Amino acid sequence: MEIVIVADRAAVGEVAAGAIADLVAVKPDALLGVATGSSPLPVYTALAARVAAGALDVGRLRICQLDEYVGLPPGHPESYRAVIEREVLTPLGLTPASFLGPDGAAEDLPAACAAYERELQEAGGVDLQLLGVGSDGHIGFNEPCSSFSSRTRVKTLTHRTRLDNARFFGSLDEVPWHVLTQGIATISDARHLVLVAAGEAKAEAIALTVEGPLAAVTPASALQLHPHATVIVDEAAASRLK
Ligand code: F6R
Repeated sequence: MEIVIVADRAAVGEVAAGAIADLVAVKPDALLGVATGSSPLPVYTALAARVAAGALDVGRLRICQLDEYVGLPPGHPESYRAVIEREVLTPLGLTPASFLGPDGAAEDLPAACAAYERELQEAGGVDLQLLGVGSDGHIGFNEPCSSFSSRTRVKTLTHRTRLDNARFFGSLDEVPWHVLTQGIATISDARHLVLVAAGEAKAEAIALTVEGPLAAVTPASALQLHPHATVIVDEAAASRLK
């Protein structure tokens, strides 16, 4: 595992954007897996700045989604599809045609999960998957004790994750209880995993991810098994590394 420690959140974004730019340079039609939440926002800002400056052409880049809430009405501003359109596709000048994601509004959710697994494979697999990490060590919405061999499926959010995500909704009651998420094995199929984190609140999760035991109770520790994983953190998030 490669660990990159930089000064602050903006620098985390720059380094991760650099990894994505390097990929696009050799594979313009790469499939980039994106995450939602606060951690990857500086990455998207840095990418958009490179595109606006004419330093990066993402015209053929394809984007896929890590996870999605179940049961939000289509077009809900906090559905992850809407968030990715707003934070990633629009700033990069991409259209929904270049986007793959699981259908959290499907009537048959297990079938939607299986269909998404097929779509990812038919698209040639994910080249680089950008990840955040939950304060409890989750990746995607694989909460603690998710199987390392899990594939895309329905999961129930823990109380802690619902509390963490309530900031995006009007109240805790509005945060969905269920999500579709790529499993840990699905995520690990990506050719390169890039996990970004910033701030003291992520320090414990980062220490467990990088130096803790390989354990289902810390889903992000699965990165220790991956042949090409990069963890990019600021000094505060790195503060509990030995
Ligand atoms: C979101 C996702 C989650 C977040 C994690 C950290 O698509 O998969 O695993 O990455 O909850 O969220 P932030 O970055 O908001 O602290």
